[in-house]
Amino acid sequence: MLESLDSLQKEAMESLDRVAGLEELPVWYREWLGRKGRVTDLSRGLGGLSPEERPQAGQRINQIKQGLEQAFEAHQQAIENRALEASLGSEALDITLPGRPLAPGHLHLTTQTLRRLRQIFAEMGFQVFETPEVETDEMNFEMLNIPPYHPARDMWDTFWVNDQVVLRTHTSPGQIRCMRQSKGQPIRVILPGKCYRYEAITPRSEHQFFQMEGLVVGHSIRMTDLIGTIRDFIRKMYGESRKLRIRGSYFPFTEPSIEVDMDCMLCRGKGCRVCKHTGWLEVGGAGMVHPVVLQNGGYDPEEWSGFAFGMGVERPAMLHHRIEDIRFFYGNDLRFLRQF
Ligand code: DAH
Repeated sequence: MLESLDSLQKEAMESLDRVAGLEELPVWYREWLGRKGRVTDLSRGLGGLSPEERPQAGQRINQIKQGLEQAFEAHQQAIENRALEASLGSEALDITLPGRPLAPGHLHLTTQTLRRLRQIFAEMGFQVFETPEVETDEMNFEMLNIPPYHPARDMWDTFWVNDQVVLRTHTSPGQIRCMRQSKGQPIRVILPGKCYRYEAITPRSEHQFFQMEGLVVGHSIRMTDLIGTIRDFIRKMYGESRKLRIRGSYFPFTEPSIEVDMDCMLCRGKGCRVCKHTGWLEVGGAGMVHPVVLQNGGYDPEEWSGFAFGMGVERPAMLHHRIEDIRFFYGNDLRFLRQF
């Protein structure tokens, strides 16, 4: 009996070796290890053996079963591996799907404009001085020679935080802060920053916008210094051939006060839609620092004089890129922002 088991095992192994394809595997399994397979049949035949032979034969049959099961699994694995390798070798597997592009961000148009303004003024020896966006009534108005109930307050529609605190309506309060910090030293600064006004939002006015203030304080500073500085700035920013126009104006914190225009760079002064057919574009307000303001900043007006100016930041960018609606600056629409 045991001898015939050995030869059966040998036969089964040889037959397994000859199995070459995946589809032949179940056929082999059914023949040898299946419910009616030849090894299973052996177990059934145990009943015909003598009680002495039976345990030994049973044990041997189990060994053969386990051995064949293991051999079957290993053989199956080997065939599968061979099939996979063959397919990898013959079929091209394209692993070159392009990655999803990450668009690099860039500076907001306003930031780009501010940097350009800063650069031009830096070349003229101006330092940057930054002051708070949330201001006191005292700084935003009173110290700038605009007492409570003064009609000039109507020039700035104001967001009030409470009775004494406002969102600054202009960068001019920075003049006072800068003078107080400079303690009697000459001053040549620009004060760029965000301002807020309680206004209806239209294509030409936002309730938030940037301004850039300038302040120069020294001995015998004159109106001609102011005009020369603005002229140099305009020509660096908008081209050497730009012409200036000075108009008398009124601001409570300067005396005398002026407004500065330049000839329209789009129509070269002939008149077009952008300059409303006047040939001129507004640049900003300016003037000689009012003695009261100098005094409020701690500078004796008998000894010191100065000039100041204030201009918009979005407006020049709008002119430059022919942007017709200021609301785009705060709309966060990437289709707009990506263009600059
Ligand atoms: N602060 C003024 C405004 O917002 C602009 C301005 C005018 C600033 C004259 C100045 C100046 O420094 O001298 O309308």
